[in-house]
Amino acid sequence: MNRLSLGIAVLGSTGSIGTQALDVISRMPKRFRVVGLAAGSNAELLGKQIKEFRPIVASLASPTAARQLRAEQVPGTTILDGLNGLREIVERDDVDLVLNAIVGAAGIVPTLAAIKAGKDVALANKETLVAAGSVVMATVKKHQVRLLPVDSEHSAIFQCLQSVNGAYLHKVILTASGGPFRQSTREELEKATVENALAHPTWNMGGKVTIDSATLMNKGLEVIEAHWLFDVPADRIEVVVHPQSIIHSLVELTDGSVLAQLGAADMRLPIQYALTYPERLPSPVPTLNLSSLGSLEFEAPDTERFPCLRLAYAALAAGGTFPTAMNAANEVAVEAFLRGSIGFMDIPRLVGKVLERHTGVKEPDIQDILEVDASVRAQVIDWCKVNPCR
Ligand SMILES: NC(=O)c1ccc[n+]([C@@H]2O[C@H](COP(=O)([O-])OP(=O)(O)OC[C@H]3O[C@@H](n4cnc5c(N)ncnc54)[C@H](OP(=O)(O)O)[C@@H]3O)[C@@H](O)[C@H]2O)c1
Repeated sequence: MNRLSLGIAVLGSTGSIGTQALDVISRMPKRFRVVGLAAGSNAELLGKQIKEFRPIVASLASPTAARQLRAEQVPGTTILDGLNGLREIVERDDVDLVLNAIVGAAGIVPTLAAIKAGKDVALANKETLVAAGSVVMATVKKHQVRLLPVDSEHSAIFQCLQSVNGAYLHKVILTASGGPFRQSTREELEKATVENALAHPTWNMGGKVTIDSATLMNKGLEVIEAHWLFDVPADRIEVVVHPQSIIHSLVELTDGSVLAQLGAADMRLPIQYALTYPERLPSPVPTLNLSSLGSLEFEAPDTERFPCLRLAYAALAAGGTFPTAMNAANEVAVEAFLRGSIGFMDIPRLVGKVLERHTGVKEPDIQDILEVDASVRAQVIDWCKVNPCR
């Protein structure tokens, strides 16, 4: 085995980011060795990935799905399951870099385990930083590892900051496509269907993040993510709607100069930059043809029609476990919407209701965070059963 290559574990390998990451990795066979793969319950796709990438370990969250995969007996790959399976993968000595592309707060524990084991983490799983930002950043500092952003907006900011002394950063400007309902009225939003909400105009992503983009909660989560990654207070994080998704985000410096990162709307670019940082290597992403782009538009977000963005700023201002509670409420509400149990605008209603009632822990440890996450989930699952917002 080539010990000069980087041992990589891809968590969430069967998802939108995970499959694109494996595409990037497959183009650089000398650079990366896939040591571990993990997913939730998709045994069929994970089985195919195991045959192609021959990892030493693979894991599924679902023990039943893991049993199904074990029955296939792929020589050379040990099949694990559950949270312990994820821990075992990220703690291995031959893993150098962990790409976390799990969706939701399920990503918190493996992220922390990877950092504690001294691994660099390429983080797509924004919910980890939203729900547990203070604990994660303190752990990164303690273990002196790199936390590399994969989210396109945060990658853009990270890229802009490469040439800048961080002390000169005045403001972070996150761009948002505005999602499929950018021009919808409040009445239309009340009647929005799952099918319409999943029809994102510029990005092709997993279900949860696509719904988050439609409610603008995704941008709210990203405001909190940016706060932790770049140590910027909420009043210096601005959101601007930019429907073309060509400018992936910007930074404003002390002297008023603004730097931006532009590129095609293709996640393989920020994924590759996180995996090969600080190097810039050729990629399969199409280059921009500025003359054919026409105009780039910008507008302020409307937090009356999209209250989730306002709620996220409020949760960040409240601090402590408020963002944890908000994230848990949103995850359950999005699942309920996707199942057809609640309406589109019930998502912000449920999140708002949770934030109104949450008492919060001011300086939470990981136990507090996991407890708030679990109790809010249980509460919102109950509320969704009776659909109290209607
Ligand atoms: N998609 C994008 O373009 C994009 C852009 C920026 C940031 N992100 C962020 O990246 C993360 C992943 O997004 P996505 O769109 O790739 O989601 P996705 O397509 O839904 O994929 C989620 C992945 O997580 C796995 N998973 C779910 N629960 C798990 C658990 N408990 N343990 C282990 N694996 C689990 C899923 O496995 P199964 O397939 O078996 O269910 C799947 O591999 C999210 O935090 C999202 O906000 C995504």
